[in-house]
Amino acid sequence: MRERIVILTGAGISAESGLGTFRDAEGLWAKHRIEDVATPEGFARDPARVQAFYNMRRAEARTAAPNPAHFALAALEATQDVLIVTQNVDTLHERAGSQNLLHMHGSLTQAMCTSCQARWEAPLVMEVSDPCPHCGARHTRPDIVWFGEMPYGLEQIDAALQNATIFAAIGTSGTVYPAAGFVAEARRLGVRTLEFNLEPSAGQPLFDELRIGPASETVPNWVAEIA
Ligand code: OAD
Repeated sequence: MRERIVILTGAGISAESGLGTFRDAEGLWAKHRIEDVATPEGFARDPARVQAFYNMRRAEARTAAPNPAHFALAALEATQDVLIVTQNVDTLHERAGSQNLLHMHGSLTQAMCTSCQARWEAPLVMEVSDPCPHCGARHTRPDIVWFGEMPYGLEQIDAALQNATIFAAIGTSGTVYPAAGFVAEARRLGVRTLEFNLEPSAGQPLFDELRIGPASETVPNWVAEIA
């Protein structure tokens, strides 16, 4: 039987590609304040600081390579119906070959204009004074969903959950909503729920199954079982 699988990924799936997570001891939120670099208010106060933060992350993400977990999920599309919903703003899923992918928190490779809402490919280094290539306004920002803003694709995610047979969460701490609420919704709908993490996440009691270990090992093993 072809399974219909919704997979939520978080920073943990990219950790073994060398990209830092947010909430561990050495994580990004230990070094930067969320209010300063991941809110519209922080951007209004100090856009140069925010651009510098995402320029740094864009440069890091560009040199990182997908790991076996990303590649295994891309291969899974050959035998199952898969939607990957990633909270990550790197492009490691698409570079591993995943086609059916939704960046619910935006992407480091995209820029947007807050005047005309145009979107385009972000340069490696964004400057506060960059004009919008469409309307010319100097109101450009990274196309990243910040705290207090609406994530992308929620209707599509909801529809996919309604139709799913399996929901899997990989490398996410289950602390940021609405993504953290998907497991409860999946469970309510009778979808089988599966978590992959180094340790149980905040939502762990809602998962039917927990696979502990590095994603680069646990995810390819799971894919080999169901492919
Ligand atoms: P977190 O940093 O909150 O959580 C990362 C999770 O990955 C933790 O539960 C780790 O235990 C797990 N982990 C780390 N290394 C792993 C590995 N090798 N294999 C498997 N699991 C591993 O990151 P997210 O849950 O992605 O949002 O954070 C969610 C959102 O919070 C982000 O999208 C970002 C952040 O603030 C915005 O910026 C809006």
